[in-house]
Amino acid sequence: MKAVLLVGGEGTRLRPLTCNTPKAMVPVLNRPFLEHVLCHLKNNDVDTVILALGHLFKGVVEYFGDGSKVGIRVIYSVEDQPLGTAGPVKLAARHLDGRFLVLNGDIFSPFDLKNMVRYHTHLGSTATIALTPVENPSAYGVVEMDAQNRVQRFVEKPKPGEARSNMINAGTYVLEPKVLDLIPEQSKVMFEHNVFPTLLSSREPVFGYDTHGYWIDIGTPEKYLQLNLDLLNRQAEAKSTIGKGTVIHRTAHITGPVVIGDNCEVGSGVRLVGPVVLGADCRVGAGSILRETVIWPNSCIGDSCSVQGSVIADNSRLGDRVRAEGRCFISDHVEIDSGVCLDPGARLWPGTHQQSQ
Ligand code: GDD
Ligand code: MG
Repeated sequence: MKAVLLVGGEGTRLRPLTCNTPKAMVPVLNRPFLEHVLCHLKNNDVDTVILALGHLFKGVVEYFGDGSKVGIRVIYSVEDQPLGTAGPVKLAARHLDGRFLVLNGDIFSPFDLKNMVRYHTHLGSTATIALTPVENPSAYGVVEMDAQNRVQRFVEKPKPGEARSNMINAGTYVLEPKVLDLIPEQSKVMFEHNVFPTLLSSREPVFGYDTHGYWIDIGTPEKYLQLNLDLLNRQAEAKSTIGKGTVIHRTAHITGPVVIGDNCEVGSGVRLVGPVVLGADCRVGAGSILRETVIWPNSCIGDSCSVQGSVIADNSRLGDRVRAEGRCFISDHVEIDSGVCLDPGARLWPGTHQQSQ
């Protein structure tokens, strides 16, 4: 089966983490987010993925190439201008044959896609929309259904209080080829605003499919951090992973699940309280504590620092005794002087030099 993966969004809400890293490439447990998604597709009988991109990110092509590294065929379909969510699928139509999948590229939801396709086929559905319950449906596409799960109404981002259901569009569709006929060529078209309402008004069978399970969109830095912590907590029984060439001082103390990349240096008396992710080539100085934190490759934490519930992107340097506690999101190539105490929720942009007062 073939799948179109929509990865053309700018990732603006994920800033400052995505200033220099495309959203698809942000590291999750030290592997690009997109790799997790592609592996899930591969495990669900998808043999070809068409990546619908706004522009060709060199990093994506360099890493994934033709997809053989992941064991799935990857085709790149690049837009001249943003075509929305459905326009890119029309652009990719020449790569499609038969029933296909469309997925938003910013979602992690490892549910059984094969079962969803069976459900779609069994019901003779034209379009089947994966669903998940959320607390604040107004930030999403709300799907209203009858008792048989046939979709009655699709309302994208209803005003607060106006949503009649808390089941939202989880961002995965199974579609029959005839849906392509509803999408004009080279135009910005949205499934959410155009295609689904048209299908419903013409009484085509559109069904909802409850995914029953973990679902997260990595739209914000908070959610990105949460995904890393959740994945590590879920594999808590598995052994922590320590990369090749990494040296951990014998007095360092590790509790909870951690993933540490290659060639890291963890100094004396360091406490890593998992879930913690350390990218390759990082250094953590003596006496520092890291808790529920993700650090990207090639960053350096000085001595006696405290980094908790935070993310530090690649190539950043923290001096000694720096405190970053509580949802601090530090971008790449940031330098923080010794003794700086960041306010909770601080966001530092690439190239910032944070000096002590
Ligand atoms: N190729 C391409 N071109 N991709 C695009 C474009 C574009 O012009 N615009 C958006 N995308 C991709 C984004 O990268 C993302 O993976 C997906 O399409 C959805 O766009 P978002 O901007 O993330 O939409 P959203 O999160 O506000 O809402 C969507 O997702 C919700 C679930 O997270 C909608 O589909 C909602 O109905 C849904 O509930
Ligand atoms: Mg989104």
